[in-house]
Order: sequence, then structure tokens, then C-alpha cells
Amino acid sequence: MKLEEIFQIYKENIMPTYNKVPLVFVKGKGSRLWDITGKVYLDFFPGWGVGSLGHCHPKVMQGIRDQVGKLIFIPNNYYHPFQARLAKELIYWSFPGKVFFANSGAEANEGAIKLARKFGAPVGKYEIITFENAFHGRTLATLAATGQKKYQDGFCPMPEGFKQVKFNDINAFKQALTDKTAAVLLELVQGEGGINIADKDFVLELRKICDEKKILLIIDEMQTGIGRTGKMFGYQNYGITPDVVTLAKALGGGLPIGVMVARKEFSDLITPGMHASTFGGGPVICKAALGVFRAIQKEKLLKNCLIMGEYLAQKLKLLKTTYPIIKDVRGIGLMFGIELNIDAKLIPQKCADKGLLINCTHDRVLRLMPAINISKNEIDKAVKILGEVLKECA
Ligand SMILES: Cc1ncc(COP(=O)(O)O)c(C=O)c1O
Repeated sequence: MKLEEIFQIYKENIMPTYNKVPLVFVKGKGSRLWDITGKVYLDFFPGWGVGSLGHCHPKVMQGIRDQVGKLIFIPNNYYHPFQARLAKELIYWSFPGKVFFANSGAEANEGAIKLARKFGAPVGKYEIITFENAFHGRTLATLAATGQKKYQDGFCPMPEGFKQVKFNDINAFKQALTDKTAAVLLELVQGEGGINIADKDFVLELRKICDEKKILLIIDEMQTGIGRTGKMFGYQNYGITPDVVTLAKALGGGLPIGVMVARKEFSDLITPGMHASTFGGGPVICKAALGVFRAIQKEKLLKNCLIMGEYLAQKLKLLKTTYPIIKDVRGIGLMFGIELNIDAKLIPQKCADKGLLINCTHDRVLRLMPAINISKNEIDKAVKILGEVLKECA
């Protein structure tokens, strides 16, 4: 198929939900992607957070191949050994509790919202507090939780019971509390929101208040989970244990998954028939996710994430001293935002022209989330291209 033909088919047959980049990718390996013309790209934003192990990691691919030959689907009224093993793995890395399997981040958050409602129902609590600039998904309830007008426009009325307060502002949170507050839903690093990192004191205080007032602390780890911050889960950097954690993206190694993990005292609120998802936790995806955990352990990727994160941070700070258009560099592990004091929307395309894929969020923030198995050599190449583009824009 020719490029123009593909673009035309999309135009005529696929709903335009994305602003498309005119690139057609056909192959991926590690941090490299090949487009249809054979050009190779270094991917520093693999799959919007999905590609924590890069593209087509051998341990994930092997798991998928093995399982596809045996059984690809079994409904959730039966048992499967790999769903059992994945649940055990998730609990091993997180906290004593139970797991619910779904297919996407929004669906995992929907499950958490329903759990919070079920938890609060006997005492009339149903409100969920979220934070300005949050992103929790595109279903109606998660859109209400996201609270950003630009995503909600045209889809109102939103479901009731969601309140947004200023991020990292404990007083604003305290003021929003009522006797109807059932839960708080928080990203520890706001990804779509421009890589805004939650302060440790703020998170510790939230945990304390949630304990005192019997409010569920739900952490959305779609972007920060599965090694991205140098720990298996982002909350482990804060010395707290949440009541509920939601996961997706990197956990599936490239296949769709969504997961809610809830502490035991809350997980048992869910009883048969109350909540479900037909495809959630199928054998192929569970085998792929087990491959992700194996790769992280065998290849010591949490350590690599920290070392390479530090290396990239230094390189980016150097860029900041060279190019005054950089206002701020912030990040944790291998999740970085480079805030410019100019409009940054065209910069990803300029980088792509030179063979580097990155993202721009909130108009002025360049977002880099390379695979956690990235090498120094790949970081050097990416920073060189980024430097060239920034020089052109300066
Ligand atoms: C923090 C966060 N939560 C939830 C979601 C929604 O995930 P999904 O697109 O898989 O529904 C995203 C997606 O980008 C996200 O970044």
C-alpha cells in the first residue's frame, strides 16, 4: 500500500479522534521503529507509556507466541493458570489485596470509582476528589474525574460526584472534604498535565487524612506504574500504601490491559455479578504481562531506569543551560517534562524529521518517556537530535 492510499483510507473510514502524525510504522524492536519507507526512528515516547520495555520485547513476544498456540480466550466464569499467576505477581509487588482485570486505563479507573461508591454507599458517601490538570480517561465517569473542560466539552452533563482541587495544595483538599467524600483519585506524576510531580509532604498528608476520615486513597499509576519511576510502582517513592492502585499501559508489554488492585478490606466489597469485563485478564495478555515482570527482574530494569534516568536528567539540564528557551526540566525515573517558554507543539515533528519520536503536552511541555531498558548510547543520540532542534527554534 502506498502512503497516500493509507492516509485516504483513514480519512474516509476511521473516526478522526487523534491529530495524526503522517508516519506509518510497520516494525519495532527495542527503542527503534521502522516506518513504511524503511526509515528508522529512535522512540523516546513508545506507545504513550505502553512501551516501557520498548517494542516487541523477546520475553513478551515469546509468551504471546506460546499462548496463542494453546488458548486465546476463556471467559471469566472459568479459571486460568496465567490469570492466577499474574494476580499473584501483582499482589507480590504491591500490597495484600485482590486484583480486578480489565482492558484499559479508563476501565481500571471506572472499576476503582465503582469500588469507592460501593465503599461509601452504606454511609451516604459518594464524592471523589481529583486534581486540576489530571487525566484519568475518556469514559464518562473518568472524564468527570479528569475534570478538564477541553475534554468534557460537548459531552455534558457529566456524572455527578466529582470535585477538582489544586494539585499539591493540601489546604484546597481539606476545604473540599465533606461528609460525602468517599475517595481521592491521584496521579503521582501528572503525565498529560505536563509532568507535574506530587510533593512528598502533600502525599503523606493525604494518606493521613484519608486514614483519619475513612476515605479511599486511589492512585492512578497508568503512567508511573511498572518500573517507570525506578520502583515497580510510583507510590513506593513516597513511603505510603494506597487503598487502591490502577494500572494499564506498560503492564501489557504492548497488549491491552487494565488492572485495579485493592486492599483486602475493600476488595471484598465486590461480589459476583457486581462488576465484570468480558475480555479482562485473558490468557494471552496475562502471559505477556508475566513476561514484562520477568524482563524487569532478569534484566534489572528498575536499576537501569534509575541509572539512565539520572544520566538523561544531567544531559537535559545541560541543554537547559545552553538553550534559554528551556524554562524547566523535571522528572522522576525515566519520565521527563521539558517545559519551554515558547510554543512547543511543532517540535515533535521537527524531531521526527531527524529520526527522534517525542511528545508535546500542555502546548509547552516536551514529554520524554523512553523505554526503561534504554542505553546511554541511545540517550546520547536522542539528546543530540533534541539539541539540534532546540538550536533551530532558539
Ligand atoms: C494517568 C492516566 N490515567 C488513565 C488513562 C486512560 O487510559 P486508557 O487510554 O488506557 O483508557 C491515561 C491515558 O493516557 C493516563 O495517562
